[in-house]
Amino acid sequence: MPNLKGRDLVALWDWSGEDVSALLDLADALKRKPGEYQGALAGRTAFLYFEKPSLRTRVTGEAGMIQLGGGAVTQTPEMGRIGVRETVADVARNLERWCDVIGMRTFSQALVEQMAATARIPVINLLTDLLHPCQALADAMTVREAFGELAGRRLAFVGDGNNVAHSLLVVGALTGMSVTVIGPRGFEPNLRVFDRARELAAATGAALAYTDDPAAVEGADAVYTDVWASMGQEKEAEQRRRLFMPYQVNAALFGRASADAIFLHCLPAHRGEEVTDEVADHERSRIFDQAENRLHVIKALYVALINGL
Ligand code: CP
Ligand code: NVA
Repeated sequence: MPNLKGRDLVALWDWSGEDVSALLDLADALKRKPGEYQGALAGRTAFLYFEKPSLRTRVTGEAGMIQLGGGAVTQTPEMGRIGVRETVADVARNLERWCDVIGMRTFSQALVEQMAATARIPVINLLTDLLHPCQALADAMTVREAFGELAGRRLAFVGDGNNVAHSLLVVGALTGMSVTVIGPRGFEPNLRVFDRARELAAATGAALAYTDDPAAVEGADAVYTDVWASMGQEKEAEQRRRLFMPYQVNAALFGRASADAIFLHCLPAHRGEEVTDEVADHERSRIFDQAENRLHVIKALYVALINGL
């Protein structure tokens, strides 16, 4: 049984497949019997820092801690940008005196890594330009709920090879779920992330691939999409819209996946762009289960990293 006490979650490639399944088991338990964990983190405090907008991550990050008996303090750059007003290391040395866990949503992955390297309390990556590990854990939980297990399942990520796609590749590699990223040339996943995920996949047999052919959704158990222009790329939105239109997840494209395929989206969705209403609101759409599972996953992370499994 892995012990996650004191660990960070800056990138899932630092975790093992056993770590991921133990965390998901705990998230399942928290979902089924929340009452059993009431007070598990009484008197504990999470510090949450957001350089970018958020609904799901901020609300679940704060509510999750409250539901476990603790509290959360949220800071945005207007109150002081980490690494500008004072060094990251000095911020870390302050926060570890008052708080029990740090969550960060930043542009730079390096900033989260720097904080984790200095702070003596766990650091959780709440999304960077490169990765979104908490989302991938909630997605894995959602796929597991739908199909019983991840190993041998096939997920097609249709769209931009972005932070969400990157973390899905890594979670797939660790759990044996095959992931194909399907999108226009020039928007492939980061090669270093891809190579890293491929190395991990050798142990589980997950097949990881990239193609620009939308027909590759054929036979997928889960079809996943995300916005075409991520936070920070707003200026490219118009140009991207033209390039990505052939990859819109509409009824025709979704219909090419397996007959019992589920639809996934991390949200927020730009309906009418990367996904049509028909698919977002389809009976096999699981987008709000994913959003719910973000709560169970962040609670599991708090319990596992602060108290231990
Ligand atoms: N999926 C997700 O991270 O949502 P928010 O940007 O609203 O936190
Ligand atoms: N790729 C999106 C995910 C939002 C949750 C972004 O970074 O904006």
